[in-house]
Amino acid sequence: MSLRPEKVIQKVEQYYREYPGCSGRSAHSISEKTSKELEEARRKTASFIDASPEELMFTSGTTEAINTVAQGLEFDRVFVTDRAHNSNRAVFQELGKEIVNMEGLDVELLKSELGEGDLLSILHVSNLDGKVFDIKKACRIADEQGAYSMIDAAQSIPHRPFSVKEVGADFVAFSGHKMLGPSGTGGLYASENVQDDLSPLKYGGGAISDATVHDNDRKKFPEGFEPGLQNLAGFTGLGAAVEYLEKIGMEKVQRHEKELTERLLEGLEDLEVDVYCEGTGIVSISMDSMSHGELAHFLDRRDIKVRSGQHCVHPWFKNKDVDGTVRASLHLYNSCEDIDRFVEEVKKASIL
Ligand SMILES: Cc1ncc(COP(=O)(O)O)c(C=O)c1O
Repeated sequence: MSLRPEKVIQKVEQYYREYPGCSGRSAHSISEKTSKELEEARRKTASFIDASPEELMFTSGTTEAINTVAQGLEFDRVFVTDRAHNSNRAVFQELGKEIVNMEGLDVELLKSELGEGDLLSILHVSNLDGKVFDIKKACRIADEQGAYSMIDAAQSIPHRPFSVKEVGADFVAFSGHKMLGPSGTGGLYASENVQDDLSPLKYGGGAISDATVHDNDRKKFPEGFEPGLQNLAGFTGLGAAVEYLEKIGMEKVQRHEKELTERLLEGLEDLEVDVYCEGTGIVSISMDSMSHGELAHFLDRRDIKVRSGQHCVHPWFKNKDVDGTVRASLHLYNSCEDIDRFVEEVKKASIL
């Protein structure tokens, strides 16, 4: 989870103070303002990932986005990588789907095995070591072989430029709370040519245009997939977060995180720690002298907040026989001083 800029917090507050209405329902001016703000947030968020507003459904995060596809699409098998987040695995297990586990992104396996009616559901950037997967190539293979493709972009959209058009995926899932947006926000991009293949996860008011006692006319994607009163304050806040990131520029965000990562890796070089980092922005470590939990507490007492454990990628840790790691997750607000302090405190812990 990222920190939130003042502008995002103000935007959320503005909803409650200035236009606390329902969108798309009432005719009064407050509700009209809410509808307009929601529409604007959808337009901004869609444009941020190079999509059209008609291709972007708001969700509570990546988990809901993946669940929507996993439960609303007909497919035979699902192909996932060994670094899949639990949110990109558990739902397939619960549904009893046939899961094909790949060690990394196995292009040869995809070429020979992935077929019509299958779903490729892979992550772009790993949340445990920052490893980046060639999703463009993978989506091209899926497309050529008649399979659906879904990208878990929870860890990439907040940290680098991202274009759904360039990637060529059918579905893309992401979370707002990792990209300076409010908790409980996110999105699912669904390309126009697969929207009719998808059924909603939930049904209800706001998502239908008419109903009788027997039947109802459901709206199309995305509104038809967003029944019930939505997280309006959150989604308008997400629009503000996107605006904030766009003003800075995602190339700049990515460059900044790369510089910080290099500095961090250099600082850790001579320490008695195991380092797991295959990209930028995410550096996981473990050490013999302290468990990941103890190290996280040690750092917390020094005002450094890190995630510890298996980072919702339990199978990967089991495979590698690693108990867990402490993860430094960097974003645009981190500085060189933060990195140096982190290294200094890890050094102290490693020689205790
Ligand atoms: C790669 C990845 N996928 C999925 C998720 C789940 O996201 P959320 O909890 O926002 O639904 C996360 C969050 O930690 C993640 O890092």
